[in-house]
Amino acid sequence: MGKVVVCDHPLIQHKLTIIRDKNTITKDFRDLVGEVATLMAYEITRDLPLAKTTIETPVAKMESSVLSGRMIGLVPILRAGLGMVDGILKLIPSAKVGHIGLQRDEETLQPVEYYLNLPTDAQERLLIVIDPMLATGGSAIAALSALKARGCRHLKLMCLIAAPEGVEALQAAHPDVDLYVAAVDERLNERGYIVPGLGDAGDRLFGTK
Ligand code: PRP
Ligand code: URA
Repeated sequence: MGKVVVCDHPLIQHKLTIIRDKNTITKDFRDLVGEVATLMAYEITRDLPLAKTTIETPVAKMESSVLSGRMIGLVPILRAGLGMVDGILKLIPSAKVGHIGLQRDEETLQPVEYYLNLPTDAQERLLIVIDPMLATGGSAIAALSALKARGCRHLKLMCLIAAPEGVEALQAAHPDVDLYVAAVDERLNERGYIVPGLGDAGDRLFGTK
């Protein structure tokens, strides 16, 4: 079963409180989502493998550590996942970025895929799928399935807030994928929104509606 890692660092939790607040304006919401993404990137990369290399400091030769594992790719789920990309790139500037467009049909709550564009070597990379909200889990599950259908096997998922229903659905559909979240909330409401959540992540990021 995939791990569920709740990133409970005090800075993440403090910023998440401001993000959730309905009085937070679009600019602050966007900035804080980016900042939390940077902090979560620190957690999601904690187990990256290292190798030794020899360098020379101004004082002496030494064996020192460098990253040695797979190259990384980020795959934001459009639109709201875009709000976390720049924050992660601050820590992993060499990551390539693919995009997957999924829109939740608000009647059926089913995700509909409208766009997919991946780095040519996506199969070789560790791909971090990004979406602020894991509600029913439908969008994230569809994104991960679309990546697996194209041969991608090394996958992690980063979200800001998850509903327990989404976590359960994710683990049933993709037991090989670890989930990193800042919070797991109480439940979904009858419209498929996370309670208490933060509202509609895409609309709050981009100032729509
Ligand atoms: C939101 C959110 C997730 C999805 C989560 O996107 O950003 O992608 O809903 O819900 P689920 O877990 O039930 O699938 P939305 O479809 O509203 O599109 P948007 O990002 O373009 O606003
Ligand atoms: N999508 C959102 O943006 N927010 C929710 O609470 C659920 C789905």
